[in-house]
Amino acid sequence: MASVTSLTASVHQRLADALTAALPEAGAADPLLRRSDRADFQANGILALAKKAKANPRELAAQVVARVESGDLLADIEVSGPGFLNITVTDSAIIDNLAARAADTDRLGVPRAEHPGTTVIDYAQPNVAKEMHVGHLRSAVIGDAVVQILQFTGETVVRRHHIGDWGTQFGMLIQYLIEHPHELDHDKGEGEVSGEEAMSNLNRLYKSSRALFDSDEEFKTRARRRVVDLQAGDAETLALWQKFVDESKIYFYSVFDKLDMEIRDPDVVGESGYNDMLDETCRLLEESGVAVRSEGALCVFFDDVKGPDGNPVPLIVRKSDGGYGYAATDLSAIRNRVFDLKASTLLYVVDARQSLHFKMVFETARRAGWLNDDVKAVQLAFGTVLGKDGKPFKTREGETVRLVDLLDEAVERATAVVREKDTRGELSDEEIAERGAQVGIGAVKYADLSTSANRDYKFDLDQMVSLNGDTSVYLQYAYARIQSILRRAGETRPAAHAELTLEPAERALGLHVDQFAETLAETAAEYAPHKLAAYLYQLASLYTTFYDKCPVLKAETPAQVENRLFLCDVTARTLHRGMALLGIRTPERL
Ligand code: ARG
Repeated sequence: MASVTSLTASVHQRLADALTAALPEAGAADPLLRRSDRADFQANGILALAKKAKANPRELAAQVVARVESGDLLADIEVSGPGFLNITVTDSAIIDNLAARAADTDRLGVPRAEHPGTTVIDYAQPNVAKEMHVGHLRSAVIGDAVVQILQFTGETVVRRHHIGDWGTQFGMLIQYLIEHPHELDHDKGEGEVSGEEAMSNLNRLYKSSRALFDSDEEFKTRARRRVVDLQAGDAETLALWQKFVDESKIYFYSVFDKLDMEIRDPDVVGESGYNDMLDETCRLLEESGVAVRSEGALCVFFDDVKGPDGNPVPLIVRKSDGGYGYAATDLSAIRNRVFDLKASTLLYVVDARQSLHFKMVFETARRAGWLNDDVKAVQLAFGTVLGKDGKPFKTREGETVRLVDLLDEAVERATAVVREKDTRGELSDEEIAERGAQVGIGAVKYADLSTSANRDYKFDLDQMVSLNGDTSVYLQYAYARIQSILRRAGETRPAAHAELTLEPAERALGLHVDQFAETLAETAAEYAPHKLAAYLYQLASLYTTFYDKCPVLKAETPAQVENRLFLCDVTARTLHRGMALLGIRTPERL
């Protein structure tokens, strides 16, 4: 299906042509077209152009109006103020445009990017043997939305879940398991263990081994020796390490499943996945002079990174004891992503508190020539999830809140809302449970995605599942309400009638639907799902106004009924598509 030229783009073209004709010396001039409240669009570019050409802005504007070709597109164009243009498009142009979009079932006329590249996106990266917390929620939710959005624009997307599956803590865990061999056992057969059970075993083991490590010097020594065995690739040690990883994955997948999110095993390439590259990464950095030895460690220094004492704080690529840390792994991962996976963009959906780390890692990779003008790296840094009190989210006991508990509570609250709304008792218990999950998980995702990622936000379930305001529930209800109208229409099918005169609420809705493609392009270019969320919220609001002002099934003529059903349908499909890109379900009935 062909992509559809938006009304904005068409109007823009007409004006640009007229401008060039009126002021040939300006070359390809931009009329600066915006949506406006006074008319459909306003062009603000003429003032500056006239100034530059030492012409009178009002006269130039009048000349543009005289030269512009209205055709079927423009209903009215007038000069306003010192040289602005107010532009109104025809009703038929709006309906024709939407009809062309509706004909493209999958993409609603949204074009693909002209020059797509390959983005490797690093997101949803929990840590082995550790509980997932709200920070991991943000990375997963934002990352998943960005994956869907980029793919929709035609970008090739490679997903990487850089899980924390390596490090000295495994010496302690493995040694403890050797000394307490039944700690990870469960009574059920393999494959039947729940994520909850897997995690509670791991958690218990983590706590006891930590306690022993802190209190027993001899255990500490044995644990440290175990780290050496692990790094040397000792078979028994590696097998036990694998057990921790597998057990944790059962848990991770159960959480991702709850989040209604597809995470594929081959995309889980954790820190350990780059072990074979670490030596070489260090050699390359040292040989090129990017890294230098300092007090036995291999370090990279930066002019603008200093500690509180004013001394430079280096990025440590290899510690003085020969151990590798987080930086060596990330630098190796960059080499893998650039040279093997052929990425043109590396995207990292990671907490803003790791920004300094990434700044140093990216700069190091640039100095080494692994990143350059053709291959860029971006951290999509996200802020902290706060409690209702505005402080970082903690339980009353001051512990980090378990992600699973939050999700369960969200689903519980949402289920109550769904049950309450089902006043006529039309839904079965099963349906209520299914919708409760879709509404609850949607609410959590939407709250995260609807504020710009770099900002902190308050985790407030009351607000999240509220039916009014900027929530996913509001959007889901708008969608379900449309579906209910379409069902009640029975034999009457939606059909576009470009010959009809439109009400203001119909025009406003139609013009907004037309902007879907432009919103998506902007959302993708800026990795800013909140722009798509804001668009969808406005779409639902404009639909609500339309629904209040314009009777659909009781419209005056059969043609008007069909045309309004058509507006309902194209709105619903835009909502559905947009929500799907955010990873949120749109139930047909609520
Ligand atoms: N596992 C880390 C954490 O829980 C996030 C990993 C981010 N990705 C990376 N390539 N360093 O904080």
